[in-house]
Amino acid sequence: MVADLDWWLYPLHRWIWSDAHRRARKLLRFCETEADGGRDLARASELTTDPRLRRLYLRHAEDELRHADMLRHRAIAVLMALPPRSVSSFEANWLAPGERGLDDLRIDGERDDALLAFLHLSERAAAGRFKIYEKALASDPQTQQLFSDILRDEEFHMNYTRRELVRVSPKKHGWRLFWARAHRLWKGYLRLAMALAGVLGGLMLMIQYFVILPVFALLAKRAARSEPEGWVLRSPRRPSLSSQYE
Ligand SMILES: [Fe+2]
Ligand SMILES: [Fe+2]
Repeated sequence: MVADLDWWLYPLHRWIWSDAHRRARKLLRFCETEADGGRDLARASELTTDPRLRRLYLRHAEDELRHADMLRHRAIAVLMALPPRSVSSFEANWLAPGERGLDDLRIDGERDDALLAFLHLSERAAAGRFKIYEKALASDPQTQQLFSDILRDEEFHMNYTRRELVRVSPKKHGWRLFWARAHRLWKGYLRLAMALAGVLGGLMLMIQYFVILPVFALLAKRAARSEPEGWVLRSPRRPSLSSQYE
């Protein structure tokens, strides 16, 4: 469903990747996600008691760390080829998040089947997105080639996680996938709610600043006009015996 929506938004993806500065920054951000995922998978290979999964997680971790290297080198090459200029920080990460899912990985205390289900859905989403990025990067053949190389690995990750899930949980793999999907939907909802809360918070502050504050400023000005200017002589009072301030 998300992949279909992404294809509908294909013109937006083309626009996001068309700016070379933004492209380099996005590659660097993807590099961080891949490196993070690689470290988590290396940890998963230490924790699992299944020797076959240990080998596969280790290979998966190596792939993700290699992707991080490839993305970083390409980002540096793109940046080096550009003249310096001030850039906006807008990266549209909500629309083109790369291999999202790996940044949400929880390894410690996770069962192998739950982890495999989560990995399978994340890798499937990532493979779908990288296909779109690959197509949208027709104007930059080197970055396009980078994504098609990475895509081959992502498809391998997507397939092995599904195959191993069926192996370790032959009866409950459908249930595990259902829960992993529900978890991803919940995370997506939270991300959307946080983005909406940020927009609404900004809007409320703008209304306070431009609508409510001017009213108070006007009232304060009017009150100030009715006050006498300068020092005012007050009637002398007898000194208080109970307080030094009166
Ligand atoms: Fe990757
Ligand atoms: Fe991957």
